[in-house]
Amino acid sequence: MTDQTLIILGASGDLTARLLLPGVGALIKAGHVPGLTLIGAALDEDWDDARWQQRVRDSAGQTPPSRWIRADVTRADDLRTVLGAAEGPPAIFFALPPAVTARACAALLDVDLPEGTRLVLEKPFGTSAESAAELNALLTRLVPEDRIHRVDHFLGKSTVLNILGVRFANRIFEPLLNSTHVASVDIVFDENLGLENRAGYYDRAGALADMIQSHLLQILGILTMEPPISLDTGEFRDRKADALRATRLWGEDPAACSRRARYTAGDLSGRHLPGYADEPGVDPSRETETLAELVLTVDTWRWAGVPFRLRSGKAIGNSRKEAVITFKRPPRVPDGLTGCDEPDRLRITFGPDRIALDFNINGPGDPFELDPVSLSAEFGAGELPPYGEVLRGVFEDDPTLSIRADVAEQCWRIVEPVTAAWRAGAVPLLDYPAGSAGPEDSLLTS
Ligand code: BG6
Repeated sequence: MTDQTLIILGASGDLTARLLLPGVGALIKAGHVPGLTLIGAALDEDWDDARWQQRVRDSAGQTPPSRWIRADVTRADDLRTVLGAAEGPPAIFFALPPAVTARACAALLDVDLPEGTRLVLEKPFGTSAESAAELNALLTRLVPEDRIHRVDHFLGKSTVLNILGVRFANRIFEPLLNSTHVASVDIVFDENLGLENRAGYYDRAGALADMIQSHLLQILGILTMEPPISLDTGEFRDRKADALRATRLWGEDPAACSRRARYTAGDLSGRHLPGYADEPGVDPSRETETLAELVLTVDTWRWAGVPFRLRSGKAIGNSRKEAVITFKRPPRVPDGLTGCDEPDRLRITFGPDRIALDFNINGPGDPFELDPVSLSAEFGAGELPPYGEVLRGVFEDDPTLSIRADVAEQCWRIVEPVTAAWRAGAVPLLDYPAGSAGPEDSLLTS
């Protein structure tokens, strides 16, 4: 691989320190980017080469050549200076709030980008189907679509990618994964973390955009896509896009198939959390939800009629991160067999990374009195952390794991009726104490 330059716009921020640089460090350590130079840029006055190099050392655990350029990343002149410091076509990572990213992209229209430049964007890609389409149109004026990497780090999680192997490298699951045999699917990502000082971003996003519109829809896409002929970029992204294009709300009424809630004060993992509305930087009048639930259908021959329930919540006492496929009951259970009240379930758990099959067999004692058991296996850990995995695609010029323009727009199209119903007050904002299991009467079935 030739030498690479990664330019990080907004490099003094939290994303760079917490996720991006550790991903870069893992890539360097694994030998994937031998000749990498890092250029950090932001407007902060108190940053210089030394502080940036220290940040790189602390967060990446590596010391690649790194330099700092003070720049207003929304000004073409400044961007020209930053790009001038790169040797060869750079990868430009926008570690910026969405509105600033859009302005930086607009400013790049006045800059000559070297052939081979890659643009790397963080979610959210726009704030609606319309604004995503506008951003996409702007981006394709800068570089071709296959050099635009819209990062969803869930696509770099090895457990998420393992779904492909489970489904398509085994004979036993795939024949059952359709509406003839599946009763429902739950995709849950409940975290035992609160806001963690991210009000500036989160209060404008909320759980629906932060987790469901992005990450959980990608999991849904991989769980429901048709078998690709190969895992090359076009095939994989086409099949995932087909599934998401067929995804819509369950039933006609967005209010009936969605719920939203916000945490109040409570005890979480041994510490007291203030209510979300009292967190510094939160504007309570926005009514931002910290938990969202949604029921969707994937309206294809294979899946029509199966409800997919997606949920994500912050400050939940027991963190639960899994996709659960609940199978229909057997057509008939012989008279005399008892104890088989639970349906069979296939669980794919994201951290700890595990797959489990819950079913009924004879337990101790009476052979006709069955008990639920779980067969489980750990997935092996990935070589790279999720950010390392998606960045590898950037450096190798392989957009397989990035979100294609049309998919970014589809994912907004899926949730927009819900956002509109919430904005119109058609769905009450429920409360749940931090540290609890969330509001009562979840839409989930498992
Ligand atoms: C991020 C969200 O994209 O994903 C966070 O903005 C969330 O709110 C996080 O906590 C979850 O991902 P991970 O990899 O930390 O489990």
